[in-house]
Formats: sequence, structure tokens, C-alpha cells
Amino acid sequence: MRRYLRIVVLCLACGFCSLLYAFSQLAVSLEEGAGDGGGKPQAAVASWLAGGGRSTLRGAGPVAHPGGSDRCKDFSLCYWNPYWMLPSDVCGMNCFWEASFRYNLKIQPVEKIHLAVVACGERLEETMTMLKSAIIFSIRPLQFHIFAEDQLHHSFKGRLDSWSFLQTFNYTLYPITFPSENAAEWKKLFKPCASQRLFLPLILKEVDSLLYVDTDILFLRPVDDIWSFLKKFNSTQIAAMAPEHEEPRIGWYNRFARHPYYGKTGVNSGVMLMNMTRMRRKYFKNDMTTVRLQWGDILMPLLKKYKLNITWGDQDLLNIMFSHNPESLFVFPCQWNYRPDHCIYGSNCQEAEEDGIFILHGNRGVYHDDKQPAFRAVYEALRNCSFEDDNIRSLLKPLELELQKTVHTYCGKIYKIFIKQLAKSVRDRYARSPKEK
Ligand SMILES: *[C@@H]1O[C@H](CO)[C@@H](O)[C@H](O)[C@H]1NC(C)=O
Ligand SMILES: *[C@@H]1O[C@H](CO)[C@@H](O)[C@H](O)[C@H]1NC(C)=O
Ligand SMILES: *[C@@H]1O[C@H](CO)[C@@H](O)[C@H](O)[C@H]1NC(C)=O
Ligand SMILES: *[C@@H]1O[C@H](CO)[C@@H](O)[C@H](O)[C@H]1NC(C)=O
Ligand SMILES: *[C@@H]1O[C@H](CO)[C@@H](O)[C@H](O)[C@H]1NC(C)=O
Repeated sequence: MRRYLRIVVLCLACGFCSLLYAFSQLAVSLEEGAGDGGGKPQAAVASWLAGGGRSTLRGAGPVAHPGGSDRCKDFSLCYWNPYWMLPSDVCGMNCFWEASFRYNLKIQPVEKIHLAVVACGERLEETMTMLKSAIIFSIRPLQFHIFAEDQLHHSFKGRLDSWSFLQTFNYTLYPITFPSENAAEWKKLFKPCASQRLFLPLILKEVDSLLYVDTDILFLRPVDDIWSFLKKFNSTQIAAMAPEHEEPRIGWYNRFARHPYYGKTGVNSGVMLMNMTRMRRKYFKNDMTTVRLQWGDILMPLLKKYKLNITWGDQDLLNIMFSHNPESLFVFPCQWNYRPDHCIYGSNCQEAEEDGIFILHGNRGVYHDDKQPAFRAVYEALRNCSFEDDNIRSLLKPLELELQKTVHTYCGKIYKIFIKQLAKSVRDRYARSPKEK
């Protein structure tokens, strides 16, 4: 018994000594830090404080600390090895000390989410509401790429600059541009300016990945969540879209199209996630030549061949393209691009019935007329809402009352799916940052 006691005492003594050593190491490292002007711990604290300690951990994954930390090679090393077993250039105590900051630091240089929209004509208010919904719920910083007719630039700038206090987004305005040879032809395809989106991979050469959305989109959950599909792409996938229809009996492409289209019912391009690095690299199979063509070279021949047969402009061209290259498309479920078609004659988007609508797409102008009051109610609630927490939380109750007035329509009958995810997003947002914002 005595012997065991002695061993225990010995162990405790050893433990105590190593603790002392550890603290001395810590002290030394702090001095060193002060000595060489901006050592790691202080720098870490400083930049952490500068970052407002804003936690954007969710979904961010491990991102390399930009300065790199030569002493703390690997986070897991610190946790799983006592410091005396670490390689000589790795100091366990420093790891331990810095680790608490690194949780915040690591996610500091977060990858931004790039969001693009093309706005022409009377779409200013609608576009601003879309951008607002993106800002309200998103976690990571957003970079907006706004393509707009020249006369809209001034208004966009004014409105966006008045939100700059939020510091969670940045934006760039671009003019509408088409390849000079055929500018006129591209412009009149479908709606003016819509085909701009086809050229985004060629215009935004520096951008790796991009979420393109129509102006009539509303985000009912963080943009981060749809962005995370990029990581789920297999090696051949370059873009992601939702099906155009769930129900082939009312599908458009399968009944009327006079050109090839993707899958059973085609895809809708109103919400399109792109890994543009891959789009720029890929050589596409096509039905015009036997050689494969790159994105930049395929668009014009495609338009020439099909221009008399296409109805929905650039979306049809995308369908033709992916019908020949189906392995390149990632298809996400309908609740990420929920349109009147999903409920107008009865509900047919099963995923939305289960989990709610994630991204609402009020195409056919339903935010601005009385045909689908459920869509309009959500739009107006977000349009009226400001960025204050209380204001955002109090948007739900009146919206629900408004939606209850729409139960005479098929979409209104299932109005609960319009607020299911929205209510959760509001709760999550509040839980994330009770004080700031
Ligand atoms: C915002 O974007 C502009 C270019 O549009 C860029 O010069 C600037 O550095 C960006 N700011 C931040 C904080 O990312
Ligand atoms: C266009 O539609 C017509 C009539 O359906 C069809 O005969 C023709 O082959 C189509 N053109 C192309 C390029 O698919
Ligand atoms: C896009 O694809 C490129 C090339 O495969 C890859 O390096 C990059 O990480 C991808 N981007 C995203 C956001 O997954
Ligand atoms: C990627 O997924 C698509 C769609 O499921 C599939 O057609 C393609 O074969 C897959 N590619 C690889 C390399 O597994
Ligand atoms: C939004 O504001 C307008 C006027 O500013 C008002 O008429 C409308 O009822 C409001 N809608 C909602 C859903 O709060």
C-alpha cells in the first residue's frame, strides 16, 4: 500500500514540475513575442479582437490560418500529445494557449460567398429585397456581383452604401455586356439582359465559384447552406440546378420543347450554383461538331442552331448543354428553388412539404400581382423588414396572419411550408448573435 502511495506522490510531483516548465515556456514565448514585435499570441489576440470575435464557425470547416504558425504545426498534435512528445519546433503549451484563439482565428480568412444577379428594367426593389434576404440570414461574408443597366447603377450604389454599416457584405456593380459581334442577338433573347448569366464564367475570370440567382429570389435560409453543395460535387460536376418540374404531367419541356433538355422535365436556371473554374476548363460534348468545345466557344454556335426553337432563352441553352453533358450537373431538390408551379395546381414538391421552403422563386411576377398571394405576402414581409433583430423577429407573426388569408388558393392551403424554414432561420440567427447586428 505504502509503495502505491509513493508512486502517486511521485507522479503528482512530476506533474507539478511539468506544469511549472510549461508556464515558464509560456512566459518565454510571450517575451519572445513582445521582443520580435508582434509575436503570435499578441497578434492573435489583436486580430481576434479586431475581428469582433464574430463566430462564423458553422459550415466553414478548417481554413488555414494565413500567417501560418510554425510552432503549432497541427492542432490535433496539441490535443493528443503531451507537449514533451511533440517535435522540437512545436511547443505544446503555445498550442494550448493559441488554440483558444485559433478557433476564431482559423475562420477569419473565410472563403467569401459570391452571389451574382442581373437586374434590368423595373427590378431594383425586387433585387434589393433578394439581397436583403441574403444578408439577413447568411453567416459568412457575401460578395455581390450586380450586373445592371447603367441607369440603375446610381440607385443600387445609394441603397447598398446605406447598408454598409453591416460590414457583412461587399459589392461590385457591372454594366451589362455581351460579346461585341452578336450583342444585339443576345440582348433580345428571352428577357432583356437575362442571357448575361451565360457569360459570367467568362466575365468574372478571377472568381472560382458563384451562385447566380434571378432577381425574384428570396433566401429563407443562409446562403451558406446552398453554397455547401459545391463541396458535394463529384469530380465531373460543374454546376447545380433544380428540376424545372416535379410533375411531368404539367411539365413544360417534356410536353412542348423543340430542343433537347436535361433529364425528365428539364432544369430551372433561376438558382444556379457554378464552379466556374471547372466550367472554364471543361470541354463540352455537343451536337454541332464532333470536337468538344469550351464554354466560351459553344454559346454562339448553340444560339445559331437553336434560336428558332427556344422559348425560355438562356435557360433553354443551358438545358441543351447539360442534356449532352449530364454527368456535369448536380441536381438539388425543389425546395431550393420553389416556384408557383410547385403548388399552383396542388402541391408537388414533396421535400418542401417535409422541411419547408428554403429558397422562394416568385417567377411570373407573382410578387407584384394578386395571382399568388402567398408568394406576395412573403415578399412584402421581407421588403418591409429592416436589419434590427426585433424587427426581423417580429416579421413572422404578421406574415402568418397574412398567409392565413390566402388559404383559398392552392399555394395558400399549404402556407405553413412558406414559414417553416423562415421561422427556423430567424431563431438560428438570433441564437448565433444575440447582441451584434
Ligand atoms: C470590396 O470590393 C472591392 C472591389 O469591388 C475591393 O476593392 C475591396 O477590397 C473589397 N473590400 C473588402 C472588405 O473585401
Ligand atoms: C426545331 O423544331 C422543328 C419543329 O419541331 C424541328 O423539326 C427541328 O429539327 C428543330 N431544330 C433543331 C435544331 O432541333
Ligand atoms: C472548384 O473546382 C476547382 C477545380 O476542381 C477546385 O480547385 C475548387 O476547390 C472548386 N471550388 C469549390 C468552392 O469547391
Ligand atoms: C457525378 O454525378 C453524376 C450525377 O449523379 C453522374 O452522372 C456522374 O457519373 C458522376 N461522376 C463521377 C465521376 O462519379
Ligand atoms: C408592407 O408595407 C406596406 C406599406 O409600406 C404595407 O401596405 C403592407 O401592408 C406591409 N406588408 C406587410 C406584410 O407587412
